[in-house]
Amino acid sequence: MFSNDDLSSLRWDPVANTVEIIDQTLLPHTLRWVHLDSLEAYCHAIVHMQVRGAPLIGVTAAFGLAHAVARDPSDQSLRSACDALLATRPTAVNLRWALEQVCAEIQPLLPWARAEAALNKALDLRSGDIHSCSLIGDNGLALLQDLYAGRTLNVMTHCNAGWLATIQWGTALAPIYKAHAAGMPVHVWVSETRPRNQGVNLSAWELQQAGVQCTVVADNSCGQLMRSGQVDCVIVGSDRTAANGDVCNKVGTYLKALAARDNEIPFYVALPESTIDWRCPDGDAIPIEQRDAAEVLSVAGVDAAGQALEVNVAAVGTRALNPAFDVTPAGLVSALVTEHGVFAASAAALETLRLQLDR
Ligand code: MRU
Repeated sequence: MFSNDDLSSLRWDPVANTVEIIDQTLLPHTLRWVHLDSLEAYCHAIVHMQVRGAPLIGVTAAFGLAHAVARDPSDQSLRSACDALLATRPTAVNLRWALEQVCAEIQPLLPWARAEAALNKALDLRSGDIHSCSLIGDNGLALLQDLYAGRTLNVMTHCNAGWLATIQWGTALAPIYKAHAAGMPVHVWVSETRPRNQGVNLSAWELQQAGVQCTVVADNSCGQLMRSGQVDCVIVGSDRTAANGDVCNKVGTYLKALAARDNEIPFYVALPESTIDWRCPDGDAIPIEQRDAAEVLSVAGVDAAGQALEVNVAAVGTRALNPAFDVTPAGLVSALVTEHGVFAASAAALETLRLQLDR
């Protein structure tokens, strides 16, 4: 049977003392592991989306900081490494969270003790993420079981919030993997997720590897699928969720939430605590990454010989705008599925959770 334990997006080799990541820009055509051996390589991997997905960005940054501290444990080096890593991508709050976790651990220490402590903290964050995602899977599975009516359950997802976006399991895909492992017949509508195609390139690949039935659909067909009764629920991840429950996720999420509401379909957001920005009052305060217009004006793939190919689809001189994320207001979210349980997407529910966790 499929075991998520075998799958990991970032591995640490204690003998060679190295970190390797899967270069996700090459998937699904090529599975290539890449060594990260300098602070620049860590930053490059995040900026160029060799690693992407909020939790994985955070864990990768933690290892990047540990790498920098091992070379120079001074306060100044720590500050400049943090600045460089923080500047890589603006939206996923897991990045800031992970860097703050490492800094809180090592700042009180004398420089000679920092390298080992930073690496141990990065390793802790890696295993903590696996644990959290597995719990998100269990908590989300209970919601899927409530919806299961003895026939194949049709779940829609957007972007990639599977094990490639975390370390193992994923957030939105974790309940699906758990349902599949428990023998529940489940089928996933994977929305392609233009412009970078994380749905068709990554989620469809992951699900197929795991033996989970899935069908890729154009982003624009999701509303009609919901209207025609072919979707039992929608589950997505998040890059940053504000203290009032507004959810920021891959652009296109908001439209799915609107269509889900209009068709009375549950719209769940699966996320670890590290994605909640307690300091951010609402979705309007979340920085939205603006990416290169070229991503919208072209399509990337491989040719018949498997060579990477990028094809322009617009007339020369065409203007394009490319916001990478959007905000779904809390009122459109049926529930937040976390490692701590399932919560309403509301300021009151999140405040209760914050007090419980003492954050
Ligand atoms: O631009 P990306 O690929 O990093 O965006 C990823 C997403 O939007 C995911 O849905 C989100 O990070 C949740 S991942 C568990």
